[in-house]
Amino acid sequence: MAKIWRNIRGTFDILPWPSVADGTAVPGSSAWQYVEDVIRRTMARFHFEEIRTPVLEEEGLIVRGIGEGSDIVTKEMFVVERGNDRYVLRPEVTAPVMRAWLQHHLEQRGGVQRLYYIGPCFRAERPQKGRYRQFHQFGCETIGADDPRADAEVIALMLAVYDAFGITGSRLRINTLGLPEERKQYVEALRAWLTPHKDTLSESGRQRLEKNPLRILDTKDEREQALLRDAPLLIDFTGEQTRERYESVKQCLGDAGIDFIEDFLLVRGLDYYMHTAFELESPDLGAQSALAGGGRYDLLASALGSNCPAPGVGFAAGIERLLLALDAQDATIPEALPPDVFLVALGDDAQRWAFREAQRLRRQGISASFDLKGRSMKAQMREAHRQRAPFTLIAGQTELEAGVVQLKNMDSGEQVQLSADKVPEHISKCLRDARGSEDSAPVSSR
Ligand code: HAM
Repeated sequence: MAKIWRNIRGTFDILPWPSVADGTAVPGSSAWQYVEDVIRRTMARFHFEEIRTPVLEEEGLIVRGIGEGSDIVTKEMFVVERGNDRYVLRPEVTAPVMRAWLQHHLEQRGGVQRLYYIGPCFRAERPQKGRYRQFHQFGCETIGADDPRADAEVIALMLAVYDAFGITGSRLRINTLGLPEERKQYVEALRAWLTPHKDTLSESGRQRLEKNPLRILDTKDEREQALLRDAPLLIDFTGEQTRERYESVKQCLGDAGIDFIEDFLLVRGLDYYMHTAFELESPDLGAQSALAGGGRYDLLASALGSNCPAPGVGFAAGIERLLLALDAQDATIPEALPPDVFLVALGDDAQRWAFREAQRLRRQGISASFDLKGRSMKAQMREAHRQRAPFTLIAGQTELEAGVVQLKNMDSGEQVQLSADKVPEHISKCLRDARGSEDSAPVSSR
């Protein structure tokens, strides 16, 4: 039997209609368009501007940017080799955005840049519900400002996106990761404290104790969680400057009426963070509960070898997880738009007419569809129903010879005869009457 080619595990196709991939529902492309549209409009409300960076980046950028010891770099990168060059499929977008900021001297364009992005990312993780190898992130980065209001603003923007979808019940956790020196001292203290408890740690906990003890803090293992209740906290290793900054961020969040939970055990999986770190979780998502996460990364530019000070803060969120949350909360997602009219043709001449007329209508901004398989009238009417066309235009040899066509309103069943020359004007009027105030519907951009 011929081989059926399939998408790679952990990736999925987005079809025009809802489908299922590896046991998980994948919404149709119109749901993705709707979600992207709401995200873009929310970003515009905060006056963040879109940046699009390539999916391929040099491996060195990602390694230096997100850290040699991070899980992503050690285990999860898709590497592409070509000659002597090594590229990676971007696992996230913050390091690429910083690269672009430095490369294009964006600091010269007004000092602070507020940027946003939507696009695919790649991580070779073990696929499961809410965790994929190709997934889609949206996020924002404010680069060029170390003002605590910038931290609160990106958090407010992140929450505004979920609000715009009516998603409720998510929890915002925040922490400060302090300055690198403070963190270094803390890591040593934590390692020293955990070492006598080595036997209580899981296998991966013991490995982390060696390589990156901070990562033990976000363990899901209950025994480790119980142990950590008495462990030293990073906040106790921070100086006045860090604490004041952290207080200011919290104050700004309070000013904006944003509820948060302080979680001194919150750490992030990427090495570029300092000061503010945060995550948004949803109880509806199961094991992969993080809807979004982010924080401040004032030293990322220097990790990339730049002398240009580029303090930054941002967040990123998974679109798949947003869609799962929408599904769990039974949110209504607008359906794909049907064609305005479906042309039903009987006979060879009428088939040529259907093609010509569809083109004429489309040129006038009316969306038109017709049969391409020379099917019977009954089958064409069934197709018009399947496509949910509100109107059909019907013509056979007799109508065309008389210079007329039939227009049928598919809802009421009412049918009228029109002069073939007047079709676009008549349909435009019918559509206006039928749509009424619906013309401002969000997804319709025809
Ligand atoms: P992150 O926490 O690694 O942060 O990813 C952000 C979000 O991407 C997660 O909360 C999750 O919703 C989604 N995500 C991550 N991995 C997967 C996956 N394998 N499958 C599905 N969704 C996934 C970052 O990427 C940072 N760049 C965020 C940031 C922006 N920090 C500052 N600016």
